[in-house]
Amino acid sequence: MKGVILAGGLGTRLFPLTKITNKHLLPIYDRPMIYYPIQTLINAGITDIMIVTGGNNAGDFLRLLGNGKEFGLKHINYTYQEGEGGIADALSLAEYFAEDEPVCVVLGDNLIEKNIVKAVKDFKKQGEGAKILLKEVPDPERFGVAEIKNGKLAGIEEKPKYPKSSLAVIGIYLFDARVFRIVKTLKPSDRGELEITDVNNAYVKMKAMTWEMLDGWWTDAGTFESLMRAAMLVSQTGANNTK
Ligand code: G1P
Repeated sequence: MKGVILAGGLGTRLFPLTKITNKHLLPIYDRPMIYYPIQTLINAGITDIMIVTGGNNAGDFLRLLGNGKEFGLKHINYTYQEGEGGIADALSLAEYFAEDEPVCVVLGDNLIEKNIVKAVKDFKKQGEGAKILLKEVPDPERFGVAEIKNGKLAGIEEKPKYPKSSLAVIGIYLFDARVFRIVKTLKPSDRGELEITDVNNAYVKMKAMTWEMLDGWWTDAGTFESLMRAAMLVSQTGANNTK
């Protein structure tokens, strides 16, 4: 399985912090944001990693991370997303890197307290399709929200005004290689982006999507509030714990 970290975008919700740097290079407590998703993948045994970046400061990722020696990696792959095409558009750039293998996709601003070892193991057993991870949150309208009917995933709504549950779809996704074909069928949403939620709903429609609850805290870090919350959580418990 290959790992893809999506670290593009202009980070406009964090302006002016992101005026002269990429969101994923901002500090979360004692480390740059991008360190956390890298560790998430490594802790799950995924060491063949591609970082998709974009914007004006892409070169800084290479300066910061090099070939990933600090993480015990021999090599990191990089690619560049032009413009603001959205998460699914960024993912499409990893098609050649994936070489028909399944992928674990992590949004560069998503941090977890623990690990995804069980989910990755279960997905390998599943053999095909996709898997998402859910977390109960007080503010589901900020996220992709899962609708569960009789224990089954009925669908996902992206940032709904009236959420059908309090279960957020976190930014860690497991896909088989069909994901790249699915992305090619997508149309831009109202915000002009190719949405990861549309990819996930395509798998739901094919009855090929499974889900698990995430153990431990989860947060994004793309707004001032969540950026501060992320730093607080990391300082209190640490992130990416392996137990
Ligand atoms: C994205 C996804 C959303 C998901 C969230 C997790 O939203 O579109 O479905 O719940 O990441 O962080 P964004 O915050 O990038 O708009």
